[in-house]
Amino acid sequence: MLILRALEARTRERVRAEVYDYYAGAAGDERTMAENAEAWQRVWLRPRALVDVGAVDPAVTLLGHRLAAPVLLAPIAAQRMLHPDGELASARAAAAAGSLYCLSTRATADLAEVALAADEVGAPARWFQLYVHDDRDRTTEVLRRVREHGYSQVVVTVDVPVPGRRERELGHGPVALPDGVEMASHLGRGEGVAAKPMIGGWDATLAWADLAWIREASGLDVIVKGVLTAEDALLAIDHGASAVVVSNHGGRQLDGTLPTAVALREVAAAVAGRIPVLVDGGVRSGSDVVRALALGATAVLVGRPYAWGLAAGGPEGHGGEAGVREVLDALIDDTARALALVGATRCADVGAEHVRLRGWD
Ligand SMILES: Cc1cc2nc3c(=O)[nH]c(=O)nc-3n(C[C@H](O)[C@H](O)[C@H](O)COP(=O)(O)O)c2cc1C
Repeated sequence: MLILRALEARTRERVRAEVYDYYAGAAGDERTMAENAEAWQRVWLRPRALVDVGAVDPAVTLLGHRLAAPVLLAPIAAQRMLHPDGELASARAAAAAGSLYCLSTRATADLAEVALAADEVGAPARWFQLYVHDDRDRTTEVLRRVREHGYSQVVVTVDVPVPGRRERELGHGPVALPDGVEMASHLGRGEGVAAKPMIGGWDATLAWADLAWIREASGLDVIVKGVLTAEDALLAIDHGASAVVVSNHGGRQLDGTLPTAVALREVAAAVAGRIPVLVDGGVRSGSDVVRALALGATAVLVGRPYAWGLAAGGPEGHGGEAGVREVLDALIDDTARALALVGATRCADVGAEHVRLRGWD
């Protein structure tokens, strides 16, 4: 959508070059980031005419929570680099829009503060994204607090055994956090925001069997984020995942992977409705949301679009909660509109018959 491109352009004018590059950039030649967006455009929509769409409702139920639309906010690190209210603004905006916010482990606000902010606005639920620290005791303590503060799912990111090589970041050197901003206490103070070095930091030994430990330590269900193959989707089910997120981290990890639209089709076929399948990467319009539903997703997450809203959106262009809300409202409105135009009144009415794939193998 044009509005998202405009917000990105405004963010670029407003923030330091290394901050813009941190959010906008991806790994390697950034092919996967580009192909994520392109792949959705290789899914043509097949609208049906003269369907009564007098009452369209894009609401969905996801893991027991009623959401206004199948559009969630993906975990994005260090949001106080974009706006002083950072994660608090995003969590509030999601709650107010009837959407769901997933807080990153690499947040610049503590999980307890974010929980409070979201609940004040009546959040349907809140999720916590987990990176496992190589000091597992630290992660056990984080998970204890995640549960204590009422998060309903732990979203384990599985595509960062080591950080991707993000050349824009390497070019600038480590991105400095603004004065007075630090990585949240659940990480340990003094951590920088730049990609971690190869040695130290996140636990590269993490394996499927560890999902049981994460579930036990948190007492919560576990969603696996970063699945791109049918094989891994089946392993996630075998290891008790409550949902999977088809994701390549917005192209920030392994450059050259399958675009997520393509991976989604394979994963959804393998999962066959046993657990919800979510997807992210390059989703930029209501038409993209409908394409994802047609390829088997229950819902999508968006990343960069709401980062631009947080930095530069809203009626006054000051970003913050109003800025994130502007992005969410636009995506939700566009989803309802795309549903009507394709001839569906509910997300569940969208199926494979609503799309035709252009130039897929
Ligand atoms: C600047 C930035 C920071 C991110 N931080 C995290 C993170 O801390 N944890 C995580 O699981 N994913 C993280 N992601 C990946 C997003 O959750 C999501 O998978 C991706 O942004 C979706 O693609 P999109 O930006 O094209 O919508 C980050 C992405 C960006 C752009």
